[in-house]
Amino acid sequence: MPHRILFVCLGNICRSPLAEAAMRRAVDERDFAVEIESAGTGEWHVGLPPDERAQAVARTYGIEIGGYRARQVTLADFTAFDEIVAMDADNLSALEAMRPTEAKARLSLLLDHVSGRSGQSVVDPYYGGEADFETTWADVDAGARALAKALL
Ligand code: 4NP
Repeated sequence: MPHRILFVCLGNICRSPLAEAAMRRAVDERDFAVEIESAGTGEWHVGLPPDERAQAVARTYGIEIGGYRARQVTLADFTAFDEIVAMDADNLSALEAMRPTEAKARLSLLLDHVSGRSGQSVVDPYYGGEADFETTWADVDAGARALAKALL
């Protein structure tokens, strides 16, 4: 059975699509069966592609994410996925608050999986600049690699 992993941020246009892309690549490199999606706790950007700056930083690392479309987290996600991985503490709290009692998905912060960074958030780059998106990429790539290694 494949591992099913959902990455979650606020808008699903900056951090979680980049985490999805980094995880797809980390898993590709390991030839490992896994289903990967991303979603947002907020609804403002549903149906939209990732932020241009997120698309640009992914392209820098050779990954095209322009075809991704934002969606909002649903209650069904808590049974459809094994792991729901939040980008920051606010989104983790929102997920904990909406989690159905029978849900089996494990909730965590992405950086919980990175040695020495447990409890840290992937900082929201939305109001930042290019350098902030580079930081986001470095964080989500470290998280994705650690997660892929842990799941193998
Ligand atoms: P994300 O970034 O949660 O990483 O996708 C954000 C996108 C949009 C907003 C905030 C954060 N917003 O306030 O619209």
